[in-house]
Amino acid sequence: MGIINQYALDNGLSEINLNLGCGGRPITGWINIDNYDYQDGDHSRSGSDYDIKMDLRQLDVAPATVDKILLVHVLEHFVRWETLDLLQYFRTLLRPKGQLIVEMPDFWKCIELVLRGKDAPHMSTPLGPMNMGMTQFYGNQWDRLDYETHRYVWGIDEFTSALTEAGYAVLLASHEAQWHLKGRDMLVVAEAPSATAAGPLDKSIA
Ligand SMILES: C[S@@+](CC[C@H](N)C(=O)[O-])C[C@H]1O[C@@H](n2cnc3c(N)ncnc32)[C@H](O)[C@@H]1O
Repeated sequence: MGIINQYALDNGLSEINLNLGCGGRPITGWINIDNYDYQDGDHSRSGSDYDIKMDLRQLDVAPATVDKILLVHVLEHFVRWETLDLLQYFRTLLRPKGQLIVEMPDFWKCIELVLRGKDAPHMSTPLGPMNMGMTQFYGNQWDRLDYETHRYVWGIDEFTSALTEAGYAVLLASHEAQWHLKGRDMLVVAEAPSATAAGPLDKSIA
């Protein structure tokens, strides 16, 4: 049994719902996981309030035992190919019909904000006021914290295609972001397959 399964058992959790890369936004009743402690001078997070410190690329959890995986503003921290690998990896951890929920910036909405220029919302940074579209292309480039760097910003159609190719069914793809910036960010909910597809042997038996 993995450390995460044991944590769920010890805490009487009836479901294993993982909030990966939780930062300063833990969710009650979920298992909040992050791999980086909060450091002074981190201007992008309010904290790192994890239940378990672990790298989300190597989760100690039994396959097909996770009900939900949530990633809020996390996947843009990985290069494209690594996210593709992660989609496959998460699918092996999810139960049949388990859900993957992702909120992150949409490349094309960020472009729209950049093109709006001064009319678009800005945030204050140590580098001065920064356009809320522009902030997403490279992430935090002022705190010298590698885990705050953005490495790839997905377009919503590109991301939902990647989910489909990885074997998920996309249940929702919208810009009704719940945690960060509505309109700029995508909120995507996808479901793992109900069961492993039948192989040639299973078909001959049927
Ligand atoms: C932009 S923050 C988002 C935090 C939080 N989900 C939120 O919406 O406020 C990205 C988070 O991903 C975490 N992170 C980055 N790489 C990680 C990894 N390999 N394993 C676990 N957490 C990681 C960082 O430590 C950081 O807390």
